[in-house]
Amino acid sequence: MAEDLQIATGTKTEMYETIIPQIKALIDGEQDLIANLGNITAALKEQFGWFWVGFYLVKSFGSAKDEELVLGPFQGPVACTRIKKGRGVCGSSWQQAQTLIVPDVAKFPGHIACSSLSVSEIVVPIIRNNQVIGVLDADSEKPDLFDETDKKYLEQIVAKILF
Ligand code: SME
Repeated sequence: MAEDLQIATGTKTEMYETIIPQIKALIDGEQDLIANLGNITAALKEQFGWFWVGFYLVKSFGSAKDEELVLGPFQGPVACTRIKKGRGVCGSSWQQAQTLIVPDVAKFPGHIACSSLSVSEIVVPIIRNNQVIGVLDADSEKPDLFDETDKKYLEQIVAKILF
């Protein structure tokens, strides 16, 4: 496997169309979850230069009511370690089992500010057997950065992850 990524310039669609086959090549044939999540975050960070991109995984500590999102592989500044269901953008995406696009985090009730530099955000749930088992979170210092194009392609990316 080549270790250098080919980074696209151009439209957002062109960037996703270039990076997605490379992400697929990186994770195909590799069973280790942490390795794959790590490479996905690195590839997205390198292609898009987002302020923060990473995974939170649902972890159970006994009963289902003790489940929390726990920080997984990420690229960017240090972040909150645990998030409860329904809390912040990540916990809301988990609870609603849907992608949330937040153009201005200051206007999202309960937003968890891991960094004051983060201004807009997208959170994509990872769904297996009708259960959310984690989320992919991307943050930007720019307002209104994420849109339906990001939703479409990031949902494609999380669908490729083997758990
Ligand atoms: N802002 C997120 C918390 C995670 S960090 O952005 C990395 C939220 O409100 O859920």
